[in-house]
Amino acid sequence: MSKFLLVLTTVFLSLTAFAQDGEKLFNANCKSCHAPTDKRVVGPGLAGVEGRWKDRALLYKWIKNNKEVLASGDSYANELYNTYNKSVMTIFPALTDKDIDGILKYVAEYKAPPDATPVATEAVGAGNTDSTFSTYTLVGLGLLFLMLMFVLINVRKTLAKVDATQTGETLPTEFEGTLGQKVSNWISHNKKVVAVGSLVIIGYLSVLGWNTLSGIGIYEGYQPDQPIKFSHKLHAGKNAVSCIYCHGSAERGKAAGVPSANVCMNCHKYIQEGPVYGKVEIAKIYAALDYNPDKQTYGNNPKPIKWIKVHNLPDHVYFNHAQHVVVGKVECQKCHGPVQEMDTIRQYSQLTMGWCINCHRETKVSMEGNGYYKELHDKLAVKYKGQNLTVSKIGGLECSKCHY
Ligand code: HEC
Ligand code: HEC
Ligand code: HEC
Ligand code: HEC
Ligand code: HEC
Ligand code: HEC
Repeated sequence: MSKFLLVLTTVFLSLTAFAQDGEKLFNANCKSCHAPTDKRVVGPGLAGVEGRWKDRALLYKWIKNNKEVLASGDSYANELYNTYNKSVMTIFPALTDKDIDGILKYVAEYKAPPDATPVATEAVGAGNTDSTFSTYTLVGLGLLFLMLMFVLINVRKTLAKVDATQTGETLPTEFEGTLGQKVSNWISHNKKVVAVGSLVIIGYLSVLGWNTLSGIGIYEGYQPDQPIKFSHKLHAGKNAVSCIYCHGSAERGKAAGVPSANVCMNCHKYIQEGPVYGKVEIAKIYAALDYNPDKQTYGNNPKPIKWIKVHNLPDHVYFNHAQHVVVGKVECQKCHGPVQEMDTIRQYSQLTMGWCINCHRETKVSMEGNGYYKELHDKLAVKYKGQNLTVSKIGGLECSKCHY
């Protein structure tokens, strides 16, 4: 036992070597729930938070273990907790005072980049904004080009007219013919204009094509309408139903799964009306189960609710929820964002290979209370003594771990 403690202490010491890096610590631990501005994410925006806590020691204590502070009956903390619908903040017993100073310093000095929204909950991927931007610019440029062309043509015509009246010449008669002939005549008289125009159009199409190609397979922000207006905000947020209540298999295996209508009935046998849609949406649960709420009987014609799948990895990738949620102790929100704030669920992360790998490079292996892996972790802690033991070190970058 004492040996194990020694190992743990070494690990903690090695972790604290990175105490100064407030931004990294913030991004890794707090960003999923807090913005460094005054914008609310899951928890309050942290800008100016130091001023809100009279006692700095209590603030440290809150960040390390908010449950203790709440239990102590501190009025500010309890009020805050209630304001945030009793949303639970993660505990961070491994953070030192110095780490916290680093984080608070990062928050205090944070300046939002001029036009990007700094908050983690942004639904639209950077790629999207880029391509809309270039689309609009190019369409604009194209229109400008056309206008310029017509102006130039008119100027030329007017000049020719002026010229003709001065010299007393007769103007060449306007070209007669069908529209097609007119166009081809115009083209043969305006070769330069046509060449430049084609270049602009080709350039535009290439940029458009490139943007489309590089966005293929990335559905960050995907938010389809679902067959029943089921709201995570109402269930997981306002009513604080635990994610595991409905997605229990996330702790047991590969898939998190979507609950069957029977799970809904645990509550909706009794709750037959909702605050927004009245009976309409809940009635769809009954319809799916062929349930008659008045007689409380089930018919024999049930049909499954056709939820639209939001998250989809390609078939050649292996991803396991239990490995991350139970062994890695990664919170659902780290990957899925503030689900408890979403009325309609949306894909929060990119789900690209780079996204998986980055996290494996940055995330430290969770060593505490992982009974099953204790022996392995003890060995690793000795092997990587004094280093940051990230997932990448235990094989998290090996192709075969993620690919069939
Ligand atoms: C899982 C979400 C979550 C994470 C992760 C999280 N917090 Fe919080 N935090 C909250 C919530 C929610 C509150 C509001 C109080 C409550 O409901 O418990 C809060 C409150 C706070 C407060 C008090 C704010 C105020 O206005 O007085 C501070 C300070 C704070 N968090 C710091 C942090 C720091 C630092 C981290 C990272 C090391 C962090 N939190 C990570 C959810 C989170
Ligand atoms: C490390 C990142 C990560 C964490 C942590 C995580 N998920 Fe997922 N989740 C994913 C990925 C990636 C997919 C897509 C899986 C696929 O398409 O095979 C997914 C898919 C899902 C789905 C769709 C159904 C399914 O199983 O494919 C649900 C529901 C879900 N997650 C819920 C949860 C819940 C609840 C938690 C917390 C208990 C959680 N997730 C934690 C990454 C994560
Ligand atoms: C743990 C209990 C619980 C479970 C399980 C549950 N709900 Fe609910 N549901 C509630 C509560 C509480 C309300 C809100 C009632 C109110 O505020 O009047 C609600 C409301 C709703 C509403 C009404 C929304 C509105 O604004 O009108 C819909 C639709 C709904 N639930 C769908 C579902 C579906 C689908 C499932 C199964 C996947 C499900 N619920 C599972 C507790 C639950
Ligand atoms: C009352 C049951 C219930 C609770 C509690 C609940 N979910 Fe869900 N979840 C569902 C249902 C039903 C769906 C499918 C319909 C939809 O997408 O809205 C779903 C879908 C999802 C999806 C998208 C699945 C896909 O298609 O890719 C994710 C991710 C997810 N939930 C995560 C969470 C997380 C994280 C929590 C906890 C904060 C949570 N859920 C709590 C019932 C629940
Ligand atoms: C939020 C951070 C995070 C993201 C994002 C993430 N992982 Fe992980 N992953 C972890 C952690 C932490 C572990 C370590 C679990 C442990 O201790 O065994 C892990 C472990 C793994 C392992 C086991 C590695 C080993 O050597 O045992 C595989 C496989 C894996 N992840 C696949 C994926 C895939 C595929 C994705 C992307 C779809 C992904 N992960 C995204 C944090 C993440
Ligand atoms: C941590 C998990 C992880 C590891 C490790 C990993 N990959 Fe991937 N890989 C993914 C995911 C997730 C995708 C799907 C991403 C997408 O569709 O954008 C992917 C996609 C791919 C693709 C298809 C690219 C495409 O555009 O469809 C190839 C090829 C690939 N990986 C090769 C490799 C090779 C080679 C290695 C080892 C050097 C490797 N991967 C290691 C998770 C991983």
